[in-house]
Amino acid sequence: MLELIIIIVKSVWFIFPAYIANGLPLALGGGTPVDFGKNFIDGYRVLGDGKTFRGFFFGFWGGILTGRFQMFLISRPGFPSGLKIPWGWEIVLLLTIGSLLGDVIASFIKRRLGIERGQSAPLLDQLDFSIGAILLASIFWPPPIEILVTILLVTPIIHLAGNSIAYRVGIKSEPH
Ligand code: CTP
Ligand code: MG
Repeated sequence: MLELIIIIVKSVWFIFPAYIANGLPLALGGGTPVDFGKNFIDGYRVLGDGKTFRGFFFGFWGGILTGRFQMFLISRPGFPSGLKIPWGWEIVLLLTIGSLLGDVIASFIKRRLGIERGQSAPLLDQLDFSIGAILLASIFWPPPIEILVTILLVTPIIHLAGNSIAYRVGIKSEPH
């Protein structure tokens, strides 16, 4: 049981900058969409109004600063050795960019399938950013299988819980 908790904490700790990069735009995004309102050749929006410059700005810096703070905590004496992963600037940058890329690719795919902005695409909505983050971070540190599996299992739960809270406090128009 304790081992399971340690793996979950370690997994969330590792992917945390990606969570922030994905979550912060929800609260601080909005404004001009990065596709400038343009349609793709299929007649649907390239990305939609849910992908904005402001969202990317806050997502990027939120992820970077979160990772930087985690690096600081790791360097403190007494930091639990069980949570130590080969952490560094490369990982923080790749997790953050991977998270934003995963999210934007998912929106692109959703629009091509005719799914409108904000309409749900189960699993894709919950995992796009984590998969993007893991794939890019793997250039430096491919996570062990138990961390990979834990992230894929735990993230949808955290994502759905986070979004339903955002919906309830009025910063998101759909609960998913
Ligand atoms: N957001 C943003 N800029 C981004 C990403 C997100 O402004 N780069 C904001 C938007 O207000 C968006 C909200 O965060 O509506 C939630 O993000 P997400 O769930 O990714 O977008 P959806 O509106 O659900 O759109 P999509 O169908 O394209 O996923
Ligand atoms: Mg969405």
